[in-house]
This record gives sequence, structure tokens and C-alpha cells, in this order.
Amino acid sequence: MTPLILIMAIAGVAPIDDAALRFAKSLSPVPSSPVDPTNALESDPQAALLGHMLFFDTGLSRSGETSCATCHVPAKAFTDGVPLARGAAEGHFNTPTLLGVAHNRWFFWDGRADSLWSQALVPIEHQLELDNSRTDALRHIASTPALKKQFIAVGGTMPDVFDLERFPIGAKPGTDTWNAMTPEDQNAVTAAYVLLGKAIASFERQLSPGESDFDRWVASINANQRDDNLMTPAALRGFALFANEAGCGQCHFGATISDLEFHDLALAPTDPANPPPGRGGGYAMLRANEFRSDGIWSDAPESRKARRAANARIGPEHWGAFRTPSLRNIALTAPYMHDGRFETLAEVLAFYNTLEGQIRRHHHAEDVLKPLDFSDSELRDLEAFLISLTGEPPRPELCQPPPIGGTQVEIPAE
Ligand code: HEC
Ligand code: HEC
Repeated sequence: MTPLILIMAIAGVAPIDDAALRFAKSLSPVPSSPVDPTNALESDPQAALLGHMLFFDTGLSRSGETSCATCHVPAKAFTDGVPLARGAAEGHFNTPTLLGVAHNRWFFWDGRADSLWSQALVPIEHQLELDNSRTDALRHIASTPALKKQFIAVGGTMPDVFDLERFPIGAKPGTDTWNAMTPEDQNAVTAAYVLLGKAIASFERQLSPGESDFDRWVASINANQRDDNLMTPAALRGFALFANEAGCGQCHFGATISDLEFHDLALAPTDPANPPPGRGGGYAMLRANEFRSDGIWSDAPESRKARRAANARIGPEHWGAFRTPSLRNIALTAPYMHDGRFETLAEVLAFYNTLEGQIRRHHHAEDVLKPLDFSDSELRDLEAFLISLTGEPPRPELCQPPPIGGTQVEIPAE
């Protein structure tokens, strides 16, 4: 034992080996959001402002009572604190954080969207969320002067949605009223709708995880002035476990401490008669998604990103698999797992410790998980490390609706 490691062992701080230090540097700092070529509006500040307005706007819902921020609450790292999200009705999934969301390549727990902008178009029309239709969402914008003005500033073309014969109430794909519309009118509505999604994504892209104690510690290493006082001794020991013995880094690595791909942890289904299809079902929905990266509404259908989406394949191991979640700000995003089954981090870690309750639905379930068999104090250390990933909140102005001002635009005469 070298003297330094001896001193650290006596002080109760885990010696952190070179491999773990390299791993630490690969996790931090969080890089800026990657560019999405399929969204030409992504870096347009006018689009970001429109998206910001829409994100907090309950007028986007059919009831007029729900907005994106109802479930993605800024103070809870843009989650809602309940096991299953509740919009127009209770859903089947736990609400994920939006801090760092632009780093994902597949969206939703089952990856049924392949871009941030196409993701945003789902909750607006989803019956368990905002339960609206694209046609009515546009009517809300056309009749709200500040929104209409901003929509036009972004280059949107508003169809004549006040003509209820041509643009009936509730018209969205799958309804008779939508099928009765002319293809030109349908296209005009969808084009304007797509612009809303791209604007919302442009806003969401600014939501980054914020600097945490762990990041400050890694920054000290990068500056060749490693300062272990920037983390608690327990968090440092926990990081060493996370990086080495616990094997968490097989799936939890990269910008958001997620491999961004899908795994089946063989969590017992809450309804054994209806086990969730996970990525298997999400893949089928992605194939059918009219807003795919390689589709006609994409701004770069030939891009590498779009080709990757088009070429994605699944295998039997994807049934029941969910996307590895971000671990950044994890202390703020309880409850946990795709169905919110664990109330606390301690419960998540208790699962990894024993793998109790696992039910393998097929022999393809992940074999990489082995019971950790850690002591209670080791589990507490691991938890302390997870807590050290809590970042500074985003800029305050991103956590509340934007002040709406400026000249009002007149609503066109009907
Ligand atoms: C009723 C609560 C609710 C509302 C309202 C809601 N969301 Fe969500 N959001 C969720 C849940 C639950 C999921 C995960 C669903 C799933 O995976 O199937 C989710 C997933 C997401 C994701 C994907 C995150 C990821 O990591 O894959 C994004 C982005 C998102 N929502 C943004 C929005 C936007 C933008 C709006 C408003 C247009 C919105 N949400 C409205 C509950 C909600
Ligand atoms: C085989 C890949 C894999 C490994 C290894 C792994 N995880 Fe996970 N982790 C996942 C997936 C996938 C989920 C989501 C599972 C679900 O909801 O069905 C998850 C969920 C979590 C969650 C809950 C996140 C949330 O927002 O709900 C935490 C915390 C977590 N993992 C920590 C760890 C720790 C600590 C380790 C090491 C002991 C670890 N994971 C090992 C893939 C992995």
C-alpha cells in the first residue's frame, strides 16, 4: 500500500484507482446538447421562445387545465413526484426528467420517438395527457395574439382554422372529421403542428442538468488540483463502488450517465397477464410514426441520425426492455423505474443488491446483473454518490412561463 492510499484508507475515503478516475472524467462535465439536424429551428431563439410559451400553456390541452409543466414540474427536475403520470387520466408510465433530455437518441421509456421534436407532438394529442387535436391546438394559437405573433415570427403559416367546415373541431389522424378533410388542408395543419414540436424541442434543449458536487470534484481533477472535500467521503466511496465492484457503468455511462439504449432488468410485471412490451412495442410504434427522422417532416431525412433511426433493428431481448434512465439529478426524480415502483433510491439499490422479485420472461433478459451483495453501509455510500449528482437548477427564467409582451397581432376576420 502506498502511503497515500494508506492515509486515505485510514481516513475512510475509498482509494480511487486510475480506471475509476478515467471513468469519472468521461461522465463530467456534461457536454452541451448535441445538434439535431432534423430540426432546422433548433437553435432559433424565436422558436425557443415560442416553445417556452407553449410548454407552460394549459391552453394546449383539451380541458384547458393541463400543460407540459403540469407533469414536468421545474422544481422537481421536470418530473412530477408520482409513480404514474396523471393528465387527462392516469397513464402507464413514470414521468422522466427533462434535464439533459436533448442527449437522448430515443425518446420515451420504450423509444417510440426518435427526435425531441417528434416526441413533443405526442402528448398534445395523447388521450391520457393533453388529450387535444392538432387542429384545435392550432386554433388556440390562432386565437391567442401573443402566441400567434410568435408563431409567425418563427415563420409558421397558419391555416384558416376558423373555418370549421374545413378544419373541424377535434380533427386529428384516426378521427372521421380528419378523414373528411382534404389532403391539402390536412397537410397544412400537420405542417403547422410540426413547427410547434420543433419550437418546443428548441426550448427543451436548453434544459441542462446543472453542475453538481460530482462535477465540481471532476473539475478539480481536470485542473490537476484534485480536491476530495468537494464530495462527502461516503459519496467518494460510493463512486468507487459504482465505477468498479457494482458494475453500474456497463449501462450507466456518458453525458447523462445512461447508455441511451434498452435493457430488460426483469422487474416483475405489476400485471402478469399484461407484461409491458417495452422496446419491442416502442419499435413497432416508431416504424409507424409519421414524424420519424427519415420521414417527410424531418429537415434532414438523409442525415446520419435519420439513417440510424431507419436502420434500427430489434431482437427478442427487446421485449420488456426500457431505456436506461439518466442518473443526473436522480435524488430529485423519485419515484423510480418506468412504472414508478420504487419510492426511494434505497429501494432501487435494494433491488440491485438482491435482484429479489426478478421474473425473466425469456432467456434473453439481461444476464449482466448479478446481486451486489453489498453491506448496508456500502449501499448508503452508493446512494450518497447518486445524491452527489444533483445539479444546480436551470436558469430561473426557464423554470417559469416567459413574460409575454410585445405588439399584439390581430386575429384574421372569419
Ligand atoms: C400527464 C403528464 C404529462 C404531460 C401533460 C406531459 N408529459 Fe411528457 N412525459 C410524461 C410521461 C409519463 C412520459 C414517459 C411516457 C412514456 O415513456 O411512455 C413523458 C415523456 C416525455 C419526454 C421524453 C423524455 C425521455 O427521456 O424520453 C419528453 C421530452 C416530454 N415528455 C416532454 C413533454 C412535453 C413537451 C409536453 C407538453 C407538450 C409533455 N411532455 C406533457 C408525462 C407527461
Ligand atoms: C443492464 C444495464 C444496467 C445496469 C448494469 C444498471 N442499470 Fe440502473 N437502470 C437500467 C435500466 C434499463 C433502468 C430502468 C429500468 C426500468 O424502468 O424498467 C435503470 C434504472 C435505474 C435507476 C432508476 C432511475 C429512474 O429514473 O427511475 C437507478 C437509480 C439506477 N438504475 C441505478 C443503477 C445503479 C446504482 C447500478 C449499479 C448497481 C445500475 N443502475 C446498474 C440499466 C442498468
